[in-house]
Amino acid sequence: MLIIANWKMNPQLPEEARDLFQKTKEAASSLANARAVVCPPYVFLGLFVREATHVCALGVQNVSEEQSGAHTGDISAGQVAALGGQYAIVGHSERRARGETNEAVAQKARAALEAGLTPIVCIGEHERDEEGAYLSFLRTQITESLHGMPKKLRASAAIAYEPIWAVGENAVRADTPEDLLEVSIFIRKVLTEEYGARLAEAIPVLYGGSVNAENAGSFLSGGGVRGLLVGRASLDADEFAAILKDADTMHA
Ligand code: PGA
Repeated sequence: MLIIANWKMNPQLPEEARDLFQKTKEAASSLANARAVVCPPYVFLGLFVREATHVCALGVQNVSEEQSGAHTGDISAGQVAALGGQYAIVGHSERRARGETNEAVAQKARAALEAGLTPIVCIGEHERDEEGAYLSFLRTQITESLHGMPKKLRASAAIAYEPIWAVGENAVRADTPEDLLEVSIFIRKVLTEEYGARLAEAIPVLYGGSVNAENAGSFLSGGGVRGLLVGRASLDADEFAAILKDADTMHA
């Protein structure tokens, strides 16, 4: 089970970041079946370079679609890899809301793979309509966001299903494990159709959106997913530790 901590633009001080990372690392140190991945703001990445372990790995919340050059303010996947990062969230709904397209997400996923990072490609609908239009929306997001991934590297990617209505402070509610199961089966069906059964099995599907210590176990046991992308609850070391503990009791 892969449990990703998406710290977003938190915390504000390096001491706070250090403290949160140390506590998370300590909680992760006893994991046997699960792996924690901490995605701090870039500015804190350097603080943790020597601290990352196999069970408490490092990732980032975004990467540039470009490899180098005149891209003011951007950070390349290669730079992240050189600092010991192993994962990159791409296409988070908060970035898509600012205009990041499926095409840009696909380029970022490709850049991440080529640099040796695992891209965590985020997808998710704005609303879940009764007629099921959200499923065709998700299908398009998946195929376009994964478009052009180098064949040999594809198996290293991961997908995070994060329904937008369930994400962040304005969330209506978390998804239910039952509804999540339907969607995770659908995502694997689309992956199978696009890339074949072997690859669909290799690419883990994660869930994100109002995950907390109370509901994490039920998503992992009943949602058909192999991990979680955790926002708010990852900023509370004790709560995130409880999520890790639950995840460790499951077999991926
Ligand atoms: P949340 O955020 O857990 O705070 O809902 C999840 C995410 O944005 O990845």
